[in-house]
Amino acid sequence: MKIGKRIATLLLAATIGFSAIGCSKIDGAEKKVKVIRVAHGQNEEHPQHKAMLEFEKYVEEKTNGDIDVQIFPNELLGATAQAVELAQTGAVDLVIGGLGTLEAFNSSYTVLNLPYIMDSTEHYHEVMNDEDIMGTVYESTRQSGFVGLTWFDAGVRNIYTTKKPIMEPDDLKGLKIRVQTSPTNVKMLQALGASPTPMSFGEVYTGLQQNVIDGAENNELALINNKHGEVAKHYSYNMHAMLPDILIASTSLLDDKLTEEEAQIVMEAADYANKFEVELWEDAAAEAKAKAEEMGVQFYYPDIKPFQDKMKDLHAEYTKDKDMKAVYDKIRAKGDEILARNANTDKE
Ligand code: GCU
Repeated sequence: MKIGKRIATLLLAATIGFSAIGCSKIDGAEKKVKVIRVAHGQNEEHPQHKAMLEFEKYVEEKTNGDIDVQIFPNELLGATAQAVELAQTGAVDLVIGGLGTLEAFNSSYTVLNLPYIMDSTEHYHEVMNDEDIMGTVYESTRQSGFVGLTWFDAGVRNIYTTKKPIMEPDDLKGLKIRVQTSPTNVKMLQALGASPTPMSFGEVYTGLQQNVIDGAENNELALINNKHGEVAKHYSYNMHAMLPDILIASTSLLDDKLTEEEAQIVMEAADYANKFEVELWEDAAAEAKAKAEEMGVQFYYPDIKPFQDKMKDLHAEYTKDKDMKAVYDKIRAKGDEILARNANTDKE
C-alpha cells in the first residue's frame, strides 16, 4: 500500500474507532443503535458484497434496527491485511479475508492454501462445510483477536498473463507474477520457476498495465470486476487452488459489544450469507468468463499434472509440522472418501 493511502486508512480507522454506537431516527424519536462495520476488498457487483447486503438485511430486521450494519467494499478501509489488523483492535467488526492473508495468523489457514490440496469443487465444498475441520480452523485465531464465522466461495485460481499463455511450468520462467502477501503463494510461484511479486489486490490492475508484473493468479471474476482482463489477455486453467474467503469477526464484537442473543443473530446471518453467496458463485464465474471472452481474453486448458508435480516438495515440507499435518490428513481423507464414493456410484 502506498504511504498516502496507508495514512488515510489509519486516519479513517481512528475516526471510526470512536463511533461504535450510532443513532437512528425511528418514528421521529432518536434511538441508540450498535454499529457493525464490515470491510472487504471486492466491488459492489461481487457475490460476496451481495451476500453481505443480505447479511445486513437479516441482522437489521431481526434486531428491529438495534444494530446498523455498515459495509465498506473496495478496500475502503485498507487492503485486507490492514482490515484484519483493524478487526484485531475492534475498530472493524467483520472482514472478508482471503486465505493468503489469514495464513499470517495461523498455520491451519496455510494448509487450506496449499496448491492442489483439493481434488474438485465437490471436495472443496465438503471440506468447507465440515464442522470438524473448519471448526478448529475458525477458532485457531482466537488468541489473535478474531475468529472465523463462515466461508464464501472464491472459485478456482488460475494464472493469467499479459504477453503469452502459460501452457507448462517452463513458460513461467523469469515472469513476475503477482501473488497475495502469502508465504505459501510465494513458494508456489518459486517452485514453478516464476518471480513471485506480493502486492495488494487493489494494485494489480496498475501493476499489469505498467508492466511492473507480467501476470497474476486469480479466479475469473478478477478479469471483469477488477478489469484485469483489459490488460491480461491469456488466462490458463492450471487450477492450482480452490480457495474460500473467510468471514472473520473481531472477538470484541462477539464477546463484548453484542448481547448473546445479538451474537446468535449475527451467526445465523453469516450462515445465510454463506448459502446465498455459494448459490451465486458458479453463474458469476461463468458470466465473468463470457464477458472476458468478449473483451478479447483467451482461455487455455494446459495439462495440470506438470504443475501439480512441482508442488510435491511443498506438500512434504508443510506436513512435517504436526498441527498442519492433522488438518492436511483430514482434508486428504475427505478427498479419498469422495473418490471412493463416486467410484461406487459409477459402478451402480
Ligand atoms: C480474490 C479473493 C480475495 C483475494 C483476492 C486477491 O478476489 O476472493 O480474497 O484477496 O483474490 O488476490 O488478493
